[in-house]
This record gives sequence, C-alpha cells and structure tokens, in this order.
Amino acid sequence: MKILLTGGAGYIGSHAAVELLDQGYEIVIMDNLSNSNIECLERIKEITGKSFAFYKVDLLEYDLMNQIFKEHSIDAVIHFAGLKSVGESVKAPLDYYLNNISGTVNLCSLMKKHGVNKMVFSSTAAVYGNPDRVPIDESFPVSPASPYGRSKLMIEEILRDVYHSDPSWRIAILRYFNPIGAHHSGRIGEDPNGIPDNLVPYITQVAVGKREKLQVFGNDYDTPDGTGVRDYIHVVDLVKGHLKALEYIEKKKGIEVINLGTGTGYSVLEIIGNFREVTGRPVDYQITARRPGDPGVTYANPKKAEIILGWKAEKNLKDMCQDSWNWQSRNPDGYHSALLSEA
Ligand code: WQD
Repeated sequence: MKILLTGGAGYIGSHAAVELLDQGYEIVIMDNLSNSNIECLERIKEITGKSFAFYKVDLLEYDLMNQIFKEHSIDAVIHFAGLKSVGESVKAPLDYYLNNISGTVNLCSLMKKHGVNKMVFSSTAAVYGNPDRVPIDESFPVSPASPYGRSKLMIEEILRDVYHSDPSWRIAILRYFNPIGAHHSGRIGEDPNGIPDNLVPYITQVAVGKREKLQVFGNDYDTPDGTGVRDYIHVVDLVKGHLKALEYIEKKKGIEVINLGTGTGYSVLEIIGNFREVTGRPVDYQITARRPGDPGVTYANPKKAEIILGWKAEKNLKDMCQDSWNWQSRNPDGYHSALLSEA
C-alpha cells in the first residue's frame, strides 16, 4: 500500500513515516518545510534503511499537489500538514483558516478527483476547549478556545460533509492529547521553530542550556500542586495509533472520531520533576501568570481507541522523558545541529 503523508517531515509525521516504512508500507511525503527540516528526511532514511519520494509542496499549491496524485497511485492519505501553534493562531487567525482549511479542501478535492477515499486526519484535543469534567470521551461537547482549535474542528465538519456526500469514504479523525518523546534512536524528534510554545521542548531546551528557565503558567489551578494537568502521550504510541486507524479504515467505510491519549494526567511540576531525574539537571523555572485560554485539567478516556482500533498507549512517563531528552541532548540545535556539525 502507498500512503501519502502531508506534513510528513514534521514531528508527528516523521515518526509516522518511520513506523510505516518499518511495517512495509510505501510512502510519499509532501511538506512545505515551513515548520520542519529537510535533514529530517535523511534521518528517516537512515533509521529505516528505506527511501521514499518527497515533494516540497504546500497545501495551497493545488497544481503541484495534483502532480503528486498523477505520479503515484495513492491508496490512503494521512493528513498531518497544518499550522499548529495556539498562540500564533490568536494573532494570525486568517493564516490558520487559509492554510489549514483551504489547504484541506484542496487535498480532499484532489483525493476525490483521483479516486482516493481513505484519510486519517490529525485533529486535536484542543477541540474540547476547557472540559466541565474529565476524563474526556469523544461524546463530549466541543468548544475550541483558539483559531487553531477551531480550524481543526471545522476540518472535522468538512470531512463529515465529504463522507455524507459520498459514503464510500473511509475517514478516521484522531484527536491527539499531548504528544511528547521521540524515536529511541534520538535521530528524529521535536524541533520547534524559535521559542517553543509547548512545555516539553521548552524544558529540554532549558536542560540542554539553550534557554535559561521555564515559565510555569500558573500554579493556582484546581489540581494537587496547582499547575496544569495534561495527558502526555509518547509520539511513537501516537503514530502506532495511526497505523491501527489505517487498518481500521481499510476494513470499514464510515467516519470515526477517536481520542488518542493515555487516560492519565500529569501536572507541569510532575513533568519538571521527571526531567530533573532523567537529565540530572536542575531545570530552573519560575511561576508566572496563567496563559490565557489554558484549561486546568484535560486527559482522555482512551476506551474507544482500545475497543475499535485494538490500540492502547504502552510507554510510560519515564520513557517519554528519557526519549525526549535523548533527542535533545544529541541534537542541542535540533536538525540544525547536523548542518552546524557539517559546516
Ligand atoms: C502543557 C502544559 C501549560 C509551556 C497544545 C495544543 C494541542 C497540541 C499541544 C498541537 C499546560 C504548561 C506550557 C510553558 C507552561 N498542539 N506550560 N509553560 O496547551 O496542553 O496543548 O499543544 O497539536 O493541540 O492545544 O500543550 O505543552 O503548550 O502546555 O507552564 O512554557 O504546560 O500551561 O498546562 P497544551 P502545552
């Protein structure tokens, strides 16, 4: 089977590429490299010993994307590509709606044109906003608190309409909780542009000496230590969930929304404590004001994924912290480290 990975050079996409190649799939990667690095593609080939076609194409480049479908007989698409910063989306909502939504409409139109009707879509737990209670299951009300979360929810609705217009489509919508960690080789990992939005890459950059100290956004939440609680899931567990979803839509028509989380929540201070243990470094931090829009506590009810996909997260928090640190300590400047060392 040949799978098109949009955004396949990104953090989640590259881990999915490794997993798919290891499982014997053929892949094609399309990525505009706006938040990823060409070096990552070399690392995927190095880890798997396999090659694949790559196209530096943006979701808005309809004709260039059409070329990909003309040159390859694509069986299914895993759609990772999209702008994904909550904070940035508040400042530049139109960029998010243009890129994420119009880009997905382009992609679905080309899939329809070329008779490709299977998609696994990268959505987010951010569609739930600030839940009234936890754990969160797929039946919970959705109320995203940012243009980023709203763009993902709107795409979910578009996919639902596409399915209702043509029930031959098979779509799995995966709502990610908080992906962290890296491939055990330490050769691929999370490499955010500029100052990291997210907790774990910020912590590992403090630990490796790239940043001075972490700001902990609030310690007055209704949680045991007052800091925010999230459902962190190892990125390799997450992408294994994608392969299970691929198998599922292979067998079953229809559209399904599925949470990908562990069902366990950890606080910011617990995460810091784990990284202090794993790295043997102080990981300095200071408590600051809450970040606007942040929910206090979110974590998944992962039951549906277990029942319909036969998937359950296997890695624990220590694995996640060790693998995140293994990547960062071997690549202090992310993929740029390679370019620096070759310079
Ligand atoms: C986690 C916790 C923060 C940074 C978002 C998106 C989600 C996905 C992951 C894209 C919270 C605290 C964070 C920092 C901190 N993104 N924090 N200091 O906000 O749960 O989820 O990113 O796919 O869709 O919604 O993740 O890592 O930003 O925050 O104290 O410098 O860490 O308040 O409690 P979040 P996060």
